[in-house]
Amino acid sequence: MMAVIETLETIAAVRAWRASGGWRTVGLVPTMGYLHEGHLALVAEARATCEKVVASIFVNPAQFDREEDLAAYPVDLEQDKRLLAKAGCDALFLPTPATMYPEGFDTWVEPGAVAAEQEGRHRPGHFRGVATVVLKLLNIVQPSHAFFGQKDAQQLAVIRAFVRDLDVATAIVPVATQREADGLARSSRNVRLSPAERQAATVLYRGLRAAEDAFRSGEGRAAALAHAVHAVLDAEPRAQTEYVSVADPDTLRELDTVETRALVSLAVWIGKTRLIDNLILDASEQARDGA
Ligand code: PAJ
Repeated sequence: MMAVIETLETIAAVRAWRASGGWRTVGLVPTMGYLHEGHLALVAEARATCEKVVASIFVNPAQFDREEDLAAYPVDLEQDKRLLAKAGCDALFLPTPATMYPEGFDTWVEPGAVAAEQEGRHRPGHFRGVATVVLKLLNIVQPSHAFFGQKDAQQLAVIRAFVRDLDVATAIVPVATQREADGLARSSRNVRLSPAERQAATVLYRGLRAAEDAFRSGEGRAAALAHAVHAVLDAEPRAQTEYVSVADPDTLRELDTVETRALVSLAVWIGKTRLIDNLILDASEQARDGA
């Protein structure tokens, strides 16, 4: 028989579930659904770390800066439930917008400088929406651990920052970016790509790899590393580059030179679909590779 996942639709139901067991560790995997291998890697990590695992699916209106992106966000709840059950997830929190943002809701988490550049600059209000909903999820579920993908590196940095600043008692666990065989980072938005666009979308990871190659050859100037990425992106006629950034992985401050570690991140439009990706450059890994 197929496993059926316990679905919790109200905050009261989550609190009752949380109080029903004397679990020492509970892992939370927040998502917006339309699950793929990236999300399932988070569930697997949670499964390996925690006694109980709960996922949430909530397409958070507060973090969408473009209405058409929210309206076109893909949904397949039955498939998501099957995938979560198969991955060993114990429960699913499935709130409605009215549950998360009832009449009179009027308090927001406003992230600081970590949210100012890159995604934050191009998607006004996005990280305020993310930080607010994630803090609410952490408060509702009260997990010992919460799992987030490196795919959304700035989101991870924003969450780490408010968890530190607001004394949230949950350990934030990063999980490596899961990719298709040709390097494209898995994303719920990939289904919007036509076959020709899907092919063109490989340019994001190829661009990032160009920066990595340059870094390994001794290039430490951020402008030169970004230039190497742009050269690859500019060669793809279907790609419109929004930004390429070389920044500190924790503070997201733009760098002039890369001393030890850097986050190279980018946002690229392929037709009407906006894709993001990133990669960490690490001089100490390079030393190990070369050893
Ligand atoms: P969503 O885009 O559904 O992603 C949920 C989680 O899966 C995030 O932590 C994201 O970084 C991770 N993820 C997505 N694609 C991945 C990949 N290819 N490899 C590894 N991890 C990947 O991010 C959100 O939802 C929302 O902003 C949310 C945190 C749920 C708040 O609304």
